Amino acid sequence: MAEPMRGLSVTGLCLRAGTKSLVRDVSFTVAPGQVLGLVGTSGSGKSLTVMSLLGLLPADVQQTGGEVRLDGRRLDPANLSAIRGRALGFVQQAPRGGFNPLVTIGRHFRETLACDGVRGAAAEARMLSLLAEVGFAAPERLPDLYPSQLSGGMLQRAMLALALSREPDFLLADEPTTDLDLVVQQQILDLLERLVARRRLGLLLVTHDLSVIARLADHVAVMDGGSIVEEQPVAGLFAEPRHSRTQALLRAHFALYGEAQLP
Ligand SMILES: Nc1ncnc2c1ncn2[C@@H]1O[C@H](COP(=O)(O)OP(=O)(O)OP(=O)(O)O)[C@@H](O)[C@H]1O
Ligand SMILES: [Mg+2]
Repeated sequence: MAEPMRGLSVTGLCLRAGTKSLVRDVSFTVAPGQVLGLVGTSGSGKSLTVMSLLGLLPADVQQTGGEVRLDGRRLDPANLSAIRGRALGFVQQAPRGGFNPLVTIGRHFRETLACDGVRGAAAEARMLSLLAEVGFAAPERLPDLYPSQLSGGMLQRAMLALALSREPDFLLADEPTTDLDLVVQQQILDLLERLVARRRLGLLLVTHDLSVIARLADHVAVMDGGSIVEEQPVAGLFAEPRHSRTQALLRAHFALYGEAQLP
């Protein structure tokens, strides 16, 4: 029997809200240790695709087709919520929205770690090691702070540490740097790059920013109007974009940044 394909794959995903089709026949695979960039204009269906992988679709959006497989094993939509967070970590755009403002950073970690039965001194040690891994030089200062006492960049690091706390094999990041200033964006991208290499994470990186793609992605899928219109290794996408939508995205990118950021 053939080896099951390693990775997180989605096949034939279709989403609709009532009679309106939002995502049509979307398929891709995120391989371990690889970064798949998902790009496309606003409203093209990137976030809904990510949310369906996590089993977190809005109540008014229905999945009418498609399946998700993890290393060849089909994930039952009903079990997705149990798997999300353990096999799949999630990092969202505005990190502040991912934290409860009334709860310390430490308690966020303790509650997440307790889901896997890690408590007490073991939980404290694990929290500090995760915070150190995402670049906090003095991690012991974090647990007693409230989210409002952290900058956006610090919160995004803490969010990454929290996403990693359950040792996921795959990370889904939806515009993880969009709300951060340019210096902090680069720091978070450096961090993501290190985590992918060190942990052999598979990363699905949603962004509309092609400089982020040039920097981090191995493969790129381009979404337009709810479908994937092109998928290529990153060098090919920049050198020979096939679809008119990809060509338009590249033209807009080069008009802003010049050609300095080719992969
Ligand atoms: N809860 C919802 N009910 C109905 N339609 C929705 C819902 N959420 C999103 N949509 C629609 O689905 C389409 C895809 O939305 P989605 O948020 O996935 O886009 P996106 O590619 O992530 O865009 P952006 O780059 O702006 O984040 C859009 O037309 C959007 O208006
Ligand atoms: Mg989005």
